[in-house]
Amino acid sequence: MAKIIHQVEKCIGCGNCTVAAPDHFEMGEDGKAHLKDSEEEDGNEVKEVEVTDSLKKAANSCPVQCIKIKE
Ligand code: F3S
Repeated sequence: MAKIIHQVEKCIGCGNCTVAAPDHFEMGEDGKAHLKDSEEEDGNEVKEVEVTDSLKKAANSCPVQCIKIKE
């Protein structure tokens, strides 16, 4: 298991993560992506998940690097 940290404030809403990992990310009405079923921690969205290739792709495809995976 790993901890996914989405730094929502940095998100510019490009949508790459929602395409790469639609099971974890969705676009919100605020124009930013949101981590599904996450909890708020220090202004970030976090959750414990099994790391998948699609999740790694989401993190790597984010232009502002606001998705962190802590294994
Ligand atoms: Fe935002 Fe990065 Fe996704 S900018 S929409 S978190 S790919």
